Amino acid sequence: MFERLKPVGMDPILALMAAFRADDRTNKIDLGVGVYQDDRGRTPVMASVKEAEAQLMALETTKAYQGIAGDPDYNQRILQLLFGADHSILDSGRIKTIQAPGGSGALRVGAEVIVRARPDAKLWVGVPTWPNHIPLLGSAGVNIEEYPYYNLNDHQIDVDAMMTTLAQVPAGDMVLLHGCCHNPTGADLSNEQWDQIADLALERGFIPFIDTAYQGLGDGLDEDAYGIRMMADRLPELVIASSCSKNFGLYRERTGSITFVTDTSEQADIVASQAMAVARQTYSMPPAHGALLVSLILGDQQLRANWETELTEVRTRIQSMRNLLADNIQQNAAGIDFSHIKQQKGMFSFLGLNTDQLDQLREDHGIYIVSSSRVNLAGINSGNIGYLSDSIVSVLG
Ligand SMILES: Cc1ncc(COP(=O)(O)O)c(C=O)c1O
Repeated sequence: MFERLKPVGMDPILALMAAFRADDRTNKIDLGVGVYQDDRGRTPVMASVKEAEAQLMALETTKAYQGIAGDPDYNQRILQLLFGADHSILDSGRIKTIQAPGGSGALRVGAEVIVRARPDAKLWVGVPTWPNHIPLLGSAGVNIEEYPYYNLNDHQIDVDAMMTTLAQVPAGDMVLLHGCCHNPTGADLSNEQWDQIADLALERGFIPFIDTAYQGLGDGLDEDAYGIRMMADRLPELVIASSCSKNFGLYRERTGSITFVTDTSEQADIVASQAMAVARQTYSMPPAHGALLVSLILGDQQLRANWETELTEVRTRIQSMRNLLADNIQQNAAGIDFSHIKQQKGMFSFLGLNTDQLDQLREDHGIYIVSSSRVNLAGINSGNIGYLSDSIVSVLG
C-alpha cells in the first residue's frame, strides 16, 4: 500500500524550530516561529482565557456533539468582533458564519466552497504571502495566480504593480488579502488602498477573500477591521477567514471561523449549506473548547474588558520591540536603513539580510531566523534585545 510514497520534507519553519531546540547555547534566540512571546520569552495562557476556562469547567455539562456549524453564540460574537456590533451587514440576511478549526481550517473550507461554486475561478494571491497559503488553498483545487505585493528593496507595498495587476483580474475571480498585520512583510494596506481595491473589485467584478489572523495586534480591534467593514458596506460578495489563535492565544485549540457575504439572503443560506457539507465531509465538526472560551469572553463585559487590556499589552509590547530594534541597528557599517520595522505592523517584518548573514547569525550567535529573513518581533524581549542588536550589526559590518 504505502511502498511508493516518498517522505515529505519538513516545513522550513518547523525544521528551524527543531534546530533551535537542539542548540544548547543559553543565549540562543528564536525569531522564526510565529507565536507571540511575552517579555520573559513565554507564550502564556491569557488571564482572561484562564478565567473563562474556570467558568467553563463549572458551566459545562456535556461533551456531546455540538453541530457542524459549531457554537451559534460564538459565531454571532465573532461576527460582532469582525464587523462591530452595529454594522448593517449583520441584520441584512446576506451574511453567514460557521466555526472552523483555526484560521487554516477556515481558509480550507472557504477554498472548497469556491471550487464548488466556480471551479475555473482563479484565486489571486499576493507575493509574498504566508507560506502555507498556496499549499493550503491550492491543494483544495483552487487555481492560484499571483499579484505583486511587496518591494524588498524599499520595504514598501509595491502599490503601482499591485494595482496594475488587480485592474486586470477578470470578473468572478477572487483576490486574497490580509486583513491586517501582513504575514510575512508587516506592510499593511492603508485605508485609502483598501478603498482603491474595493473600487477595482466593483469595477472588475472580482471577489475579495480576506484572511484575518491578527485582529487587534496591529492598530486596534476596530482599526484592524477597516478593510473588512468597508468592503462589506460596498461589495456584494466577500469571504473572510478569521482566527483566534493569535489574539486570544488559543493556537492549539484550533479556533477560527469562515464568513460569507453574499448578494442575497437566499444565496447566503445556500453557501452556508455548502460550507457545512464541506465540513461534514472532512472533519465533521469543529473542536469546541476554544470557541466556548471566546464566546464566554466576548459575551461578558468584564472578561471582554480584561481581554482587551491584555491584547493592548501584546500590541504595545510588539511595537516597542519594533522601535527598539530599529533604533539599535540603524547605525551600521553598511548604512542600511531599518526604519521600515517601526512603521510596519503585527508580529513580522523582513530584515533584508542575505543567506550568509543569516547563517552567520545562526552559527556564530545562536540566532534563528527563516531564510526569507522574516523575523518574529515578538521573540525579542528586554533580556535579549542588546545581544540581538549587537549580533545583527556585527554581521552587517
Ligand atoms: C496569515 C495567516 N493566516 C492564517 C493563519 C492560520 O492560523 P491558525 O493557526 O488559526 O490556523 C496564520 C498563522 O500563522 C497566518 O499567519
